[in-house]
Amino acid sequence: MPDLIVRPRRLRTTAALRDLVAEARLDSKMLVQPHFVVPGKGVSHPIDAMPGIDHQSVDRLVETVAADFDLGIRAVLVFGVPDAADKSPDGRAAAADDNVVATAVAALKGRFGHDLTVMTDVCLCAYTDHGHCGLIKNGRIDNDSSLPHLAAMALSHARAGADVVAPSDMMDGRIAAIRDALDDDGLVETAIMSYSVKYASAYYGPFREAAHSAPAMGDRRSYQMDARNRREALIEAELDVEEGADILMVKPALAYLDVVSDLAETFPLPLAVYNVSGEYSMVKAAAEKGWIDERAIVLENWHAFRRAGADIIITYHGRLALAEGWL
Ligand code: PBG
Ligand code: ZN
Repeated sequence: MPDLIVRPRRLRTTAALRDLVAEARLDSKMLVQPHFVVPGKGVSHPIDAMPGIDHQSVDRLVETVAADFDLGIRAVLVFGVPDAADKSPDGRAAAADDNVVATAVAALKGRFGHDLTVMTDVCLCAYTDHGHCGLIKNGRIDNDSSLPHLAAMALSHARAGADVVAPSDMMDGRIAAIRDALDDDGLVETAIMSYSVKYASAYYGPFREAAHSAPAMGDRRSYQMDARNRREALIEAELDVEEGADILMVKPALAYLDVVSDLAETFPLPLAVYNVSGEYSMVKAAAEKGWIDERAIVLENWHAFRRAGADIIITYHGRLALAEGWL
């Protein structure tokens, strides 16, 4: 026996002591609950690969958000899922002032006002008939001609009252294009949460079923980031900061915590992680089989996001976690 044993275990003795010294903490106010809005009335049907998450029409969405609000959720991210008939080569329905997202935003802001932060996903893939996030020219995803369409989409959401617009398309220069369009319209207070570092990922599988946005041909590797790259994330994030982003995001979350940590250390802006559909569905599937403890897994993942430096967690598990009192 040595004379002196250094004993880090001392502070692990009781739950109260562990809670006292815990570094990473969670708060319901840092959670963002995503929603998939469809046309119609009275619609609420489950998304197969994402148990607990539904496609909902605006009227049902408002009811769901009200129930979530009572649980403590204070921020939502709205995705539009238009009818197939509304899809076109340039995805123009994305910017229509009366589309499902604009309607949902107006309804939510009308009901909850400043008490709820309403964020909208800005991307063309659910609205283009080819399912890509930008326009196609000569068989390629064309960066620059996509920008005005993305800006118009963001503008329509902002005019409807969105607090935050969140471009997920990964075109170069879109933050500047959107910021310009918003400012020109006097919407200087609408914030931009940039999907700054969005990797081409197999973890989006269930989402593409939910959003009906799978590309009809090819994949998204010519615009989303390559999973093998870490340093490149800093280039993407720095550009977004220069172009006027207010919040940065890393997506997916679990397999990219090195990148989360890099951004948290490099940029003072608030940092979000998107705990994406595939990450959610894997946990749900294993939990349904009784192979894992869902609560323990979710908290462990969320604490990992916080440890890596994330301020905001976008997660499909938000509602369940609060309903079950996990926090
Ligand atoms: C659309 C978009 C995607 C997600 C958010 N916005 C899918 C994609 O890029 O293919 C993924 C969200 C999730 O998987 O939960 N650009
Ligand atoms: Zn897209």
